[in-house]
Amino acid sequence: MDKKYLEDLLLKMTLDEKISQMMQLSPIFFKGTEMQGEITGPMEELHLTEEIIKNAGSVLGSSSKKDMLQIQEAHMETNRLGIPLIFMADIIHGHKTIFPIPLALGASFSEEIVGEMARVSALEASASGHHVTFSPMVDLVRDPRWGRVMESTGEDPHLNSRLGAAMVKGYQGENLLEDHTRLAACVKHFAAYGAPQGGREYHTVDMSMREFYQNYLPAYEAALEAGAKMVMTSFNVLDGVPATMNKWLNRDVLRKELGFSGVLISDWGAVKEVINHGTAANTKEAAKGAVLAGVDLEMMTECYITSLKELVESGEVAESLVDEAVMRMLVLKNDLGLFEDPYRGLKVSERTGDILSARNRQAARRVATESAVLLKNNQNILPLSTDQKVAFIGPLAESKDVLGGWVVYGEKSDAVSIYDAFSGKFSETKFVTTDYETISEADYKRAEDAAKDADVIVLCVGEKSEWSGEAASLATIRLPEAQYELCKRIAAANSSVVTVLFNGRPLDIKELVQNSEAVLDVFFPGTEAGNAIFDLLTGKVNPSGKLSMTIPQTTGQIPIFYNELRTGRPKTEQNAGEKYLSQYLDIPNEPLFPFGFGLSYTHFALTDIKMKKEIAVGESLTVDVTVQNTGECAGSEVVQVYLFDVTASVSRPQKELKAFQKVYLESGEKTTLSFILNEKDFSFYLPDLKVVQEEGIHHVFVGTSSCDVKSFEVRVVR
Ligand code: GLC
Repeated sequence: MDKKYLEDLLLKMTLDEKISQMMQLSPIFFKGTEMQGEITGPMEELHLTEEIIKNAGSVLGSSSKKDMLQIQEAHMETNRLGIPLIFMADIIHGHKTIFPIPLALGASFSEEIVGEMARVSALEASASGHHVTFSPMVDLVRDPRWGRVMESTGEDPHLNSRLGAAMVKGYQGENLLEDHTRLAACVKHFAAYGAPQGGREYHTVDMSMREFYQNYLPAYEAALEAGAKMVMTSFNVLDGVPATMNKWLNRDVLRKELGFSGVLISDWGAVKEVINHGTAANTKEAAKGAVLAGVDLEMMTECYITSLKELVESGEVAESLVDEAVMRMLVLKNDLGLFEDPYRGLKVSERTGDILSARNRQAARRVATESAVLLKNNQNILPLSTDQKVAFIGPLAESKDVLGGWVVYGEKSDAVSIYDAFSGKFSETKFVTTDYETISEADYKRAEDAAKDADVIVLCVGEKSEWSGEAASLATIRLPEAQYELCKRIAAANSSVVTVLFNGRPLDIKELVQNSEAVLDVFFPGTEAGNAIFDLLTGKVNPSGKLSMTIPQTTGQIPIFYNELRTGRPKTEQNAGEKYLSQYLDIPNEPLFPFGFGLSYTHFALTDIKMKKEIAVGESLTVDVTVQNTGECAGSEVVQVYLFDVTASVSRPQKELKAFQKVYLESGEKTTLSFILNEKDFSFYLPDLKVVQEEGIHHVFVGTSSCDVKSFEVRVVR
């Protein structure tokens, strides 16, 4: 419909009808539904009337297309002005075909891979009646105690920006109105939700505005530049004010500085939770705070519906604020063509072939092979050969709990376990499944006996899906002690141990690494887990993932991330051993494995690295690198370019990722890659939030990990 249609529609709406458009409800509140839909937050009494429900704006998390069709049909019969409902859901890393968790997707270092995940997710979810996904989550994360690191693509602003934008494009495609296989994307959580103190879920976020702009804001900005239709507020405060009633954050930064004109939705209950934060005394003040801060849609609490009318009629809130919120909702529905076709994606018999198809499974398998990280491979114990006798031991040897957190519609029963994929594929295979947390002596014995008889052991250990995700913070990032004991005993029985790790967060895995000849971190690989791991362990696919988040030595080292500042007493190779340095007495400063690290079955050489030694302020720097596959098998490498501003008006990180390219090369093949670092890459925020590029010495690092780099000096001059 055209803009005039929407404007005329708004003029016809009563204040009650407008305010109802600003409320999102779970399907449980609608008549005739069989399923209660996804419940991803606390359920409360919302004091809803029939009138309110029939004028509601949108539905969160319906579980069935049949449900949604019933809800929409009933709604269209009763809604006076025929304003259709819009259906939103959490499609985070797949819908029915589940892809690796986003932390693993980050390790792919590939926009193509991440875009494919989003495209298939949208294909399946749109065929299931959904219109909007609450994805991408682009919160920068540096603390693996926080369970939602699994939902992020990691600790780097540049990586998160590029992959967040790729997800938006994958979900929305080129023409959301015409292409009914796509979804509108909702960027979250605005803002800086990934930095809770102590890694404790929903805890306070407190940082300098300079830090916020420099590291936390860029990925939201990139996702919005990619055209995301919605933004979701975060639960946390920023500068002491809850994001959901933070006028500066939402109206000045999001709307004015970033130019966002779409729908801003609260997180589940976040409007009412400002009372818990202590910045509103009651639901009326909460409603006032949120609407003044520009929140258009209240998720699953009743502040707007119970207080906005009074606030408008008393003049405390201008009706124009309600009008702008409602217009944004009407525009979003119109962008999806819902006025022309309220039943988009809801025709029950349509497009069933788009869901969990062989093609979608193949896509998930390929994405999973690109997202796993090979951390160790001594004596080239990997890849395995099928004439070996292999024992698969551990809690994940046969488990289908391989999807990870934030899976609402995918089924574990559809997943391919290690057992499903490996059984019968080697000269001899044994499977010994143990518990995740407690392993009896008898089970240890069974495992040791199986290990003794094998040529190689694949130790399948890790977390349960429910141990990461929302409301899943850990004070200690360790697995249950029984799993470390199992690894030690197996290694004592037979040292040929290949550990496959399933995890939603970086974990303290030192003892696993010490007792294994090889370690492959697969995170939670999704529906095609077993097949992807088969491809990787047998060399059908060469591992190419690079860590998107640092793996610490131990919990006490957190927060640790690659782009830290140097401090005034940095520990270096030259002064190691001295006392008065920034260091620990009991562990090294280095992480167990650094950001950007990942091994391959082949080797790559970086040569002929060329760049100018001097550029002017404002001039771009081109970096040329020749990369050659010098090994025996084909594979992919991620060439990374980091920048270090040696002396500046503020202390700058010892390195920052500014560019990367992933390239596939046959054995012996080489190619030359060009990277362009522009003025923005050389610029940074001052304490007064001015953005500047300063002259002076910079180091450009080129490598295949944040810790395996060649350094080049570049002088920036006026
Ligand atoms: C949850 C999450 C958010 C999700 C929303 C709807 O609490 O914080 O990421 O999209 O509620 O399920």
